[in-house]
Amino acid sequence: MNSYDKTPYKSIPILYTYLPSLAATGRLHGIDTEDPDQCRVLELGCAEGGNIIPQAWYFPSTTFVGIDLSQRQIKMGQNIIEKLELPNIQLLQADISSFKHQTDDKFHYILLHGVFSWVSAETQESIFRQCQSLLADNGLVYISYNTYPGWHSQMVFRDALKLDASLYPQKPIKERLKNLQAFFSAADNEFSNYHQRRLHELGKHSDSYLLHEFLEENNHPIYFKDFISRAQQHSLQYISDAYLPIDEPSLLGEKRHSFLKNIPKKIDRLQAMDFMIHQRFRRSILTHSGNKVREKFTSEHLPEVAFRTYLQSKQIASYNKIQEVKYHDLSNTKLQISVSHPITHAAISILKSHYPGSLSFNDLLQKSCQKVADEGDLKYLESIEHFYSELYLLVVDDWVALDTRSRQYAKLDSSKPLQISTLNYYYAIQQGFMPSPCHKAIDLGKTSKIFFSQLLHGTSGEALQAMYINEYKKKNKSTSINPFYANTYKKQAKNFIKTLERNGLLENK
Ligand SMILES: C[S@@+](CC[C@H](N)C(=O)[O-])C[C@H]1O[C@@H](n2cnc3c(N)ncnc32)[C@H](O)[C@@H]1O
Repeated sequence: MNSYDKTPYKSIPILYTYLPSLAATGRLHGIDTEDPDQCRVLELGCAEGGNIIPQAWYFPSTTFVGIDLSQRQIKMGQNIIEKLELPNIQLLQADISSFKHQTDDKFHYILLHGVFSWVSAETQESIFRQCQSLLADNGLVYISYNTYPGWHSQMVFRDALKLDASLYPQKPIKERLKNLQAFFSAADNEFSNYHQRRLHELGKHSDSYLLHEFLEENNHPIYFKDFISRAQQHSLQYISDAYLPIDEPSLLGEKRHSFLKNIPKKIDRLQAMDFMIHQRFRRSILTHSGNKVREKFTSEHLPEVAFRTYLQSKQIASYNKIQEVKYHDLSNTKLQISVSHPITHAAISILKSHYPGSLSFNDLLQKSCQKVADEGDLKYLESIEHFYSELYLLVVDDWVALDTRSRQYAKLDSSKPLQISTLNYYYAIQQGFMPSPCHKAIDLGKTSKIFFSQLLHGTSGEALQAMYINEYKKKNKSTSINPFYANTYKKQAKNFIKTLERNGLLENK
């Protein structure tokens, strides 16, 4: 039995495989990538399809094929597709090495997340061979993989966990991890601090990730440079990483960059960067060797794409002066980015109000200039090049995500009933998250399942607040609720609705 039949992988949307972002990254590098709204996509090793089923829902004119060796995972995915009545996606049980596509149509995007390092060297060769032969002329391949040098130090955990598993076969993985933490802490040697920190981080991952990453037969990290040279042997060339910051050594600061900037070839430079930051993981985007690739895009190329972000600040930005303002995103308030030009401040505010929608460069520029003209000082419209360079920084440092065009989501009318889609109802009930239109898995924590059936049929914000309070009463077998708790539950209900709304998961009935 395949190990993934025994323990299925938690299959979720993988943010950096979101088609519009991949397509836009390709365009910035000079490839005339296919319109993500109307193209063909193949995912190799798709597990139960958690990465492509949501994209098939949100891109109904694009067709998707997913294959995986594990019959059980494919069956699980097929059940979801049947329930959602999706006509544009097919999941097939097949081996990457022998897969034959039924038609001669090539794919515009081929995705492999969490597969390459976890198969044998022969299957890795088949991956490159299949990508080369199934990829359309203007196509992109996304492959993620574990890298050295980062995995040299991580391998000690894998080897120690494997030893533990051979000695005590029947232990849950999280318990093994805890024991290992105690073990390395008792070791009290020069590596103890590092081991403690990493093991603490690893403890946050799902059991299925840990089992397959650390106890699976295959886990073969590779140096970036070696991965690229193997791809080149199959006539595939590197474009960029899907996570742009690790394609841009200058972001490491002047001291570190001074060691890297004189290395003439990009691949060598990025390999040196991996040594410097002890890189553990990469998400390389490849295309056919014959395509002309722009090695580095600049701010001049930004008008070719569109943008999306939700950034917040404790400061109030002024449109009347150059003022350094620190912004953070919702996932980590400690990590911050500073920008200072009034048009950039206006652009951040406008993108936030459009989120999860996106705006093309021209739409964004026009609206941002209008905002500065209305609320600030007109003279800043004359120094637009500052906006270009700040937007460029926000893009390459991954504060602003890419898209191919403006996308708009309807604003909610809170006086009307609210609703979630069948896609999101299904994922909320079965998997505990909702796939958002811009391909994030929105974690629903311990929210009770009864809210989702109400939301599927349509309900008001007030009715949801009342349900939160009723749930409390039921749990505590009480008929009344102290006003303090009532307020707390109302707030929780409001926050829940706000999270769904912000991520484009609610619509009016
Ligand atoms: C670590 S999981 C990653 C799943 C998914 N791509 C994700 O990131 O959530 C690796 C997947 O590759 C599949 N796989 C491994 N070898 C394969 C092969 N030769 N052909 C097809 N699928 C394979 C496994 O069954 C498993 O579902």
